[in-house]
Amino acid sequence: MLKTITTLLACIALSMPVAHAAGLPDGKKLFEANCVTCHGADGTVSDYGRKLEPFPARNLRAIAPYVSADELRRIITDGTHKTAMRPMKYKLDPFEIEAVVDYILSFDYSANKANGEARFKAVCASCHGTDGRAQTGIGAKNLVYSKFGLPEIVHTVRYGRPGTLMTAKRHQLSNTDIADIANHIYSLRYQGNTARGGKLYAANCQSCHATPADIRIIGNTAKRFKKMSELDDHMLDLRIRHGRHVDREGKGSIRKLSADNVQDIIAYLRQETK
Ligand code: HEC
Ligand code: HEC
Ligand code: HEC
Repeated sequence: MLKTITTLLACIALSMPVAHAAGLPDGKKLFEANCVTCHGADGTVSDYGRKLEPFPARNLRAIAPYVSADELRRIITDGTHKTAMRPMKYKLDPFEIEAVVDYILSFDYSANKANGEARFKAVCASCHGTDGRAQTGIGAKNLVYSKFGLPEIVHTVRYGRPGTLMTAKRHQLSNTDIADIANHIYSLRYQGNTARGGKLYAANCQSCHATPADIRIIGNTAKRFKKMSELDDHMLDLRIRHGRHVDREGKGSIRKLSADNVQDIIAYLRQETK
């Protein structure tokens, strides 16, 4: 054990000053020497890479804006099991891998909206609905109200959610399809509007709760959360649309609020109870 550590320290001592003196090695050159046969000179995929079995090489340009340095480092260092993507740790040292990661992260990609919409309809809409609102009755997430940024959407599509119907789609879709679909979903996003929410609150809620701060959290939830703003959207949406006040109000206006109206009210509640 001690011997391993000593050897390791010796290696670090020897390699660090060299790498530091010159900064990171040239990532572009390393990429050209080690990656372009499969990933192509521009980081998309080479003709050779396209034909690889069991899975083709993947377009690195289309993931660069969305995946983290950690994820790239892990894949490049250890490779991907049972694919032509071999571990690079035997060929490149950690500094060289870091330089390649840096180089890949400098790639840009501009999404193709039309393709994103078409692929979303073909692959995702059966569960998430053509409008992304998931009114399909199978428990998929409403993507219009999702808080996910592009990196989280891309991550979910790549790796899925274990134990749910949301399976990993990395081998079903190309990286350009995933990037295009993610951008499409992101463009469907509904942004709750506090000004509209304030008006809706005055018209529908104020008669019983003078201000949002007057709303009492009840039941077990009250033990865990002190402020309305601490409840997530789903919890708030449930309480507003199905809460006790729906019966109290009789045939009033709460039942008629649309899902988007409730999102606006939630945005307002959050602002007022921060
Ligand atoms: C012999 C061909 C080959 C070479 C050389 C190669 N790759 Fe790959 N690479 C692949 C294949 C095939 C995949 C797809 C693996 C899979 O399906 O998960 C891949 C996947 C990747 C991924 C993950 C992409 C994704 O969407 O998950 C990264 C990152 C990557 N390669 C980087 C590199 C870098 C950097 C180099 C050079 C240091 C390199 N590769 C060299 C074949 C290669
Ligand atoms: C077979 C049904 C099904 C298909 C097809 C499907 N999804 Fe999902 N998706 C789900 C379910 C169910 C969840 C919720 C998982 C959970 O409970 O965490 C989900 C969750 C998500 C989430 C997480 C949203 C959030 O805010 O938590 C994203 C993003 C997503 N899906 C995108 C997609 C995209 C993009 C596609 C098409 C490439 C797709 N899904 C295809 C069922 C599906
Ligand atoms: C007719 C009177 C009435 C109206 C109108 C009303 N509420 Fe309520 N609301 C109540 C009562 C009663 C409760 C039960 C809690 C209590 O006893 O204080 C409640 C509970 C709630 C809770 C849940 C607290 C919890 O922990 O479950 C929220 C959130 C809430 N109201 C928000 C609203 C919003 C937003 C509106 C307008 C869209 C609204 N209420 C309109 C009477 C009303």
